[in-house]
Amino acid sequence: MTLDVVTLLNEIAEIGRDPVRGGYSRHVYEPAELELREWFRRTSTGLGLEVETDRNGNIWAHWGRGDGAIAIGSHLDSVPGGGAYDGPLGVASSLAAVAALMEEGFVPARPVTIAAFGEEEGSRFGIACLGSKLMTGALPAATVAALTDDAGVTYAEACLADGIDPAGLGRDDERMASLAAFVELHVEQGIGLADLDAPVAVASSILAHGRWKLVFSGEGNHAGATRMRDRRDPVAAMAAAVLAAQRIASAHDGADSARATIGRLTPIPGGTNVIASRVDAWLDVRGDTDPQTRALLEEILKASHASAEEHGCTLEVVEESYVSTVHFDPDLQQRLVGALGGVPVLATGAGHDAGILAAEIPTAMLFTRNPTGVSHSPYETATDEDCRVGARALTEVVRLLTSEPRK
Ligand code: GLV
Ligand code: MN
Ligand code: MN
Repeated sequence: MTLDVVTLLNEIAEIGRDPVRGGYSRHVYEPAELELREWFRRTSTGLGLEVETDRNGNIWAHWGRGDGAIAIGSHLDSVPGGGAYDGPLGVASSLAAVAALMEEGFVPARPVTIAAFGEEEGSRFGIACLGSKLMTGALPAATVAALTDDAGVTYAEACLADGIDPAGLGRDDERMASLAAFVELHVEQGIGLADLDAPVAVASSILAHGRWKLVFSGEGNHAGATRMRDRRDPVAAMAAAVLAAQRIASAHDGADSARATIGRLTPIPGGTNVIASRVDAWLDVRGDTDPQTRALLEEILKASHASAEEHGCTLEVVEESYVSTVHFDPDLQQRLVGALGGVPVLATGAGHDAGILAAEIPTAMLFTRNPTGVSHSPYETATDEDCRVGARALTEVVRLLTSEPRK
């Protein structure tokens, strides 16, 4: 059976469209993501793969079973109002790659398994890569089980929607021991390939990155009746902190990579004619190295505390997640570059499940060209032609890695 990556993406093009934000909102264990999970299971079964959902909510489609497996895949969930490619392109390309090898009668010397990891974006529960972090033990099961979404639903409650027993969450030694390597194909989140006029790259590294919750507290009051000089407005304090983050990261974002973003805010209670009593803001900071990232954070937090004080407010900071700089396995990287005829090697500022698995097993990534570089947006794109070139590159990578028998 042939499976075309573009046709596969078209099959899911109507699932999880967001009529308000545009693009897609496919959050873990919510109806759209559950529909995508069913689509992945159905398509994999149709291909003759053995489908299994692990105890951490990741889905696996096995072509052969046993140790020394080569894992490929990505995720199906999206950011709020995300694009069509971030995640699903990697899953669809993996299905197309396995189908192509089956079609030509290729017999892999090792098992191949396609993974669809759960909650890669952290859009529902706040922390990214939950499925891979649970599987590797990078996060304790109890911590994840207790996370809540905006409606107060815990992860432990939410995962029941796909039949996951929360009692089984946690490091999966057996699965980790069965995997020899992981390769994740992803749409590029940047314009490196467009600049180089090339369709596919191999990844070198991921910036260190973390998320911090900033809680600015002041005094709720009446928007009309409260004189300006009497206010303790946490939104004003937060706004100054946003500008400080922007200024500080920009000053460091040159030869080094420095990124700071506040993209999510919740003013409480959130009324047009109400001075908020509190505002929760989530700060995303990224940098080349851990010390650089931590230094950037400290500078931003210093400015944020100063702005809270200036406005008569308090500021509480909670680190929600942190992932150190990832350098992908150099040997695997070079083998992929060689097998693909010398494709470019690019670094990325985006986090991935591959970055979590890299701490445990040889891991690599392939990027498919994104002509505008835009991602985490409805305007994320990749041409049909490039999607097919990417899927063929992944096919060659799987062929390479499964041509050698396990030791
Ligand atoms: C995920 O895409 C991230 O980089 O946060
Ligand atoms: Mn993403
Ligand atoms: Mn992604």
